[in-house]
Amino acid sequence: MKNYVTVLIAVSLLLNFLQSKAQNLPQLGKNSAKEVVAAMTLEEKAQLVVGKGMKFGGTSSGTGVGITEDKVAGASGTTFAIPRLGVPSIVVADGPAGLRIDSIRNNDHSKTYYATAWPVATLLASTWDTSVVKKVGVAFGNEIHNYGVDIILAPALNIHRNPLGGRNFEYYSEDPLIAGSMAAAITNGIQSNGVGTSVKHYAANNQETNRNSVNTIVSERALREIYLKGFEITLKRSNPWTVMSSYNLINDTMASESYELLTTVLRKDWGYKGFVMSDWFGGRNAVAQMKAGNDLLMPGTKQQTQKIIDAVNHDSLDVKMLDENCERILNIILQSPSFKKYKYNNQPDLKAHAAIAREAAAEGMVLLKNANNALPFASIKNIALFGNNGYDLIAGGTGSGDVNKAYKVSLYQGLINAGYNIDAVTVEAYKNYIADYNTKHPKKDFFQEFSNPTPPAPEFEVDDNIIKTKALNTDVAVIVIGRNAGEGKDRKIDDDFNLSATEQALIKNVADAFHAQNKKVIVVLNIGGVIETVSWRDKVDGILLAWQPGLEGGNAIADILSGKVNPSGRLATTFPVKYEDVPSAKNFPGKEFPEKATTGNFGMKQIPAEVTYEEGIYVGYRYYNTFNVKPAYEFGYGLSYCNFTFGNLKLSSSTFNKDITATIAITNQGKYAGKEVVEMYITAPVNNIDKPAAELKAFAKTKLLKPGETQTLKFTLTATDLASFYTDKEEWVADAGKYTVKAGASSTDIRLKASFNLENEIVVEKVNKALSPKTNISELKSAPVKETSYINELNNFYTIGQ
Ligand code: BGC
Repeated sequence: MKNYVTVLIAVSLLLNFLQSKAQNLPQLGKNSAKEVVAAMTLEEKAQLVVGKGMKFGGTSSGTGVGITEDKVAGASGTTFAIPRLGVPSIVVADGPAGLRIDSIRNNDHSKTYYATAWPVATLLASTWDTSVVKKVGVAFGNEIHNYGVDIILAPALNIHRNPLGGRNFEYYSEDPLIAGSMAAAITNGIQSNGVGTSVKHYAANNQETNRNSVNTIVSERALREIYLKGFEITLKRSNPWTVMSSYNLINDTMASESYELLTTVLRKDWGYKGFVMSDWFGGRNAVAQMKAGNDLLMPGTKQQTQKIIDAVNHDSLDVKMLDENCERILNIILQSPSFKKYKYNNQPDLKAHAAIAREAAAEGMVLLKNANNALPFASIKNIALFGNNGYDLIAGGTGSGDVNKAYKVSLYQGLINAGYNIDAVTVEAYKNYIADYNTKHPKKDFFQEFSNPTPPAPEFEVDDNIIKTKALNTDVAVIVIGRNAGEGKDRKIDDDFNLSATEQALIKNVADAFHAQNKKVIVVLNIGGVIETVSWRDKVDGILLAWQPGLEGGNAIADILSGKVNPSGRLATTFPVKYEDVPSAKNFPGKEFPEKATTGNFGMKQIPAEVTYEEGIYVGYRYYNTFNVKPAYEFGYGLSYCNFTFGNLKLSSSTFNKDITATIAITNQGKYAGKEVVEMYITAPVNNIDKPAAELKAFAKTKLLKPGETQTLKFTLTATDLASFYTDKEEWVADAGKYTVKAGASSTDIRLKASFNLENEIVVEKVNKALSPKTNISELKSAPVKETSYINELNNFYTIGQ
């Protein structure tokens, strides 16, 4: 039977081939994409621009991720093949923190398809080291390639506009330079394997509440300088194969139907050559999407294909436009592993990748507090470990950013692996509690779990007597506070951004008991987004922000606690004192119009909504530092087990010509080897439009410096780095005047300054008018604060040009 089928397939392929030969049909690869498109029927064109659909309810493997079973089970989608023209189908799969495919296929447990859960993007950004992120990308891409996937639906680089954003863990930073640099680094790494990326979600998609219907009202300047900037940097530095348009509307037009977003800005202003795909079921009008330049509709429905055919037949869609959509898709398919018939082995080196995940995780953890050198552990043997997530690591967030991993190393396991003893009584109590909760709250089916994940066990209430006994018979307390979130839902203020009463009591009781015995208390934050810290941080001796560190997380946290790795992560997102301090707090998640509700996909109620970005360009540290609002932990902050000095800041010139270089010498004054991050901020002259107090324009991490060792770092600043966006002229302009370069160990800990002069303004670039808001936005403006009181600018260091 099997032989018979094989013969049939061979005969049909041969017939196909002979037919193409006889008709002299163009073949992709031999002929140009244009020639292939010219030979396509209208039906074939309409099929190529619409994906093959999606299966709900998970696959037969039962792991529940699957939607595309024909080639790679659990991938998110595939495109149509046109065999007579040599066009194969390609496979796309999520996501930003690792390849999301089914781990078990057809109930065959003898073979597994697990993938590496990498540290989440917010952690990767906190490395402030693009070489580490690129290294993750190289290994990540190898996994994608060896599992038969052509394009990964990542990286995701929306801005951390508000700490409650449910998908913030998938995104890098509140700052577009960090976001764009990291996304470019991972894209370069992934694509070096011959597979593609899809940078998402383009654009201004910074919340999950009403994500398919929310109208984002935002100024052109905030778009250009904040929300589009990261994408622009990524595209120019790494040329991703594809871009994914977002679900939301921008200034009244759906992102995937916006010609101005997808053609005027993306292609005309930035020269992008790849193709654009929609987010899953995103947009409402397939024809408008084609016209806008949204080349591929994913996952694709038969109705969309029909609408496109009808529109061409009724002259409401020019077939030339459809041809361009097809050509752009074919030009990427040409480069794909599926086109090249790559023989993937389904056996990536998961062990080697786990080692890279562990290294990257430790690089991006941020030491927030270390009173009296509580860390690294010295003469500690016995640890009392508190907090559910000490035993049940949150490796990454939920939704399409989740990964089917073979295992995850909890902090409990990581500390055991590092040779510590963990107090048995606490271990037993927590393990029983978590097991009992999980039995009583079994996971729901794929779709329900995806849209509404089973909440994790509430924090275990530990008996105070246990805590007091442990303070006597262990050396240190470690408390893990965990948070999880993901696609489809934003976080809330109570019991999420703010700690719950049980968590507050746990910290207080443990701190009281351990401090009474002169023992220290360390808090480890296993979180995917920002939380409140000021109400409890004074009670503890050390705080390590471990983020959601991927499958090797427990080992990586133990590496830092033990001192095997000296922490060098820095915040790429601000920790405010309280939620109300966040500049977007009064405009998040916006207004709803329930009376205008309609029925959306799958019969789900869709409520029109709008959110106005009144804070304009003042996002994150641009706001806190300009308006003198002191955060709990500022952007760029992070401690090391060493101190570093910044010395000898030199500029190549005191007047700006084509560019200017800055050099700075960093010396490790500590007793351990360590790495320092140098953050270069610029304060620009304010002539016509207001500007943030300072903006990050370059950054670098030193190599591992031995005690006493010095490294000189060099930064080049170009006119682009000096420019702001002038909406009235549609120009990026570097204003004439004095620019101050500030070398900081954080956005408020400025160690050295130097300045240069720009004699005449430079018009760096003129762009097309696009994406103007239709209503007036009362945007936050500021008379710039010269020197904010809490910013520590040490003027006693060597400075030049002042
Ligand atoms: C998400 C995307 C994801 C896609 C495919 C959508 O719901 O917003 O980020 O890539 O699904 O799974």
